[in-house]
Amino acid sequence: MTRKSAIILILLGAPGAGKGTVAQYVKDKYDVFYFSTGNLLRNEVKEKSEIGRRVEDILGSGGLVGDDLVNEIVEKNLEKIAVDGSIVVLDGYPRTENQARVLDEMMSGKFRDAIHVIELVVDAEEVVARISQRRVCVKCGNTYGSKDNIKICSCGGELVRRKDDEEATVRNRLREYEKATLPLSQYYSDRIVKVDGSVTPEEVAQQVNACLCGFGIEKRR
Ligand code: AP5
Repeated sequence: MTRKSAIILILLGAPGAGKGTVAQYVKDKYDVFYFSTGNLLRNEVKEKSEIGRRVEDILGSGGLVGDDLVNEIVEKNLEKIAVDGSIVVLDGYPRTENQARVLDEMMSGKFRDAIHVIELVVDAEEVVARISQRRVCVKCGNTYGSKDNIKICSCGGELVRRKDDEEATVRNRLREYEKATLPLSQYYSDRIVKVDGSVTPEEVAQQVNACLCGFGIEKRR
């Protein structure tokens, strides 16, 4: 099958719903470009860049970074990779209706019809419990949960807790999600597939495979 335009795959879901875990699986099995606005912003903070200094407190409190800044970061990344035939997985973007409209404008005329959305549906208390157990690699950003009984990442990096994973901050992130991001479920109602994210990672992966197959995305040979 020849694909003429880029496909944009948006992973939507509450903090801790498993977006990063699904993205790791998809990167492993499919030929995709991937980026997470959360990872990009955390890297800016780590590097103490000007952007990093502007967003550090916002990330630390569980609030949302301003739309203009995030839209600019995404546009710069997308223009390099959203080319004919590419598949781009977006984790953590868009997160507000303004961001969704700006993404539509970025894709307008060219790739607008190629936006697909997978929403991972998980209960709020389950995500709070998951995040309390999460460790992330300082080097590659890979994520590990309670069942991954290891101290060092497969890349050799140390595993640490994210600064915004304290329970009070997580609850603030959940409030932001419900207020600003959940309405996107309606915004994308003509192109969204809901996946039960409360089952095991393997069962989530099976559902994601079925979605990708439906979107015409094939596994790496
Ligand atoms: P971001 O990094 O995007 O964080 P988030 O959306 O809060 O999501 P998380 O990374 O916490 O969770 P996840 O869904 O990826 O779950 P994971 O796979 O790790 O954003 C961070 C901050 O950056 C925001 O608060 C905001 O300030 C800013 N920001 C980012 N994008 C922005 C934007 N567009 N606009 C404005 N601000 C923005 O899984 C969680 C845990 O559960 C792991 O331990 C995992 O191993 C485990 N797990 C996963 N799946 C399962 C399963 N099926 N069963 C059991 N355990 C599982």
